[in-house]
Amino acid sequence: MKTLMVLMVTLARAGEHEEHEHEEHEGDVVAPVSDPAWASECGSCHLAYPPGLLPARSWSALLSDLGHHFGDDASVDPAVLARLRQYAEAQAADRQPASLSRWITRASAGTTPLRISEIPALRAEHLEEVRTPPKSWASCASCHTGAAAGRF
Ligand code: HEC
Ligand code: HEC
Repeated sequence: MKTLMVLMVTLARAGEHEEHEHEEHEGDVVAPVSDPAWASECGSCHLAYPPGLLPARSWSALLSDLGHHFGDDASVDPAVLARLRQYAEAQAADRQPASLSRWITRASAGTTPLRISEIPALRAEHLEEVRTPPKSWASCASCHTGAAAGRF
């Protein structure tokens, strides 16, 4: 009987924990990429990052220098660039109500990060949670299987 009680308490706690984790992660959603040009131009070398993961000033800085993009040439023609700019501006983290976007907006206040993965608070969380850091954090989808749907 005593063993059964302990077992029941343990099960109840496990249930609570799961529920708590679920709640914590429920808000970690950003609007998925909805612009076909962004999806194809920015998704050929890596995940097409949803714009809700960086503030507008970061996208602006990235899009201003696509010819020198992390050692690659990611330049696009001017008409496409104008469209990408408009899309990123409208969908950026600091333009969105999603809780993950708001978290990123706060975490990057006063800075213009060019990498999502190097926002200090996110970097700290990653180093805390991942035992063996990958060579690059850029392929979000290799760990966050819902990344293409905006789930992290
Ligand atoms: C020709 C290939 C190529 C294309 C096209 C490309 N990128 Fe990249 N991008 C890279 C490489 C390489 C990196 C660095 C990856 C790494 O660190 O492993 C990178 C990294 C990034 C990062 C930083 C990721 C992080 O948090 O570490 C962002 C943001 C980014 N790209 C945005 C874009 C956007 C926006 C576009 C479309 C306009 C784009 N990229 C198109 C090659 C490309
Ligand atoms: C090597 C695996 C790995 C890679 C690559 C990775 N992450 Fe993560 N990330 C994790 C783990 C593990 C956690 C902690 C558990 C969780 O929250 O899902 C985490 C947490 C997060 C969180 C915080 C979620 C929360 O609940 O606080 C965000 C946001 C995030 N990652 C975004 C990204 C983005 C964007 C990229 C790509 C630029 C990325 N991650 C790349 C493994 C990874």
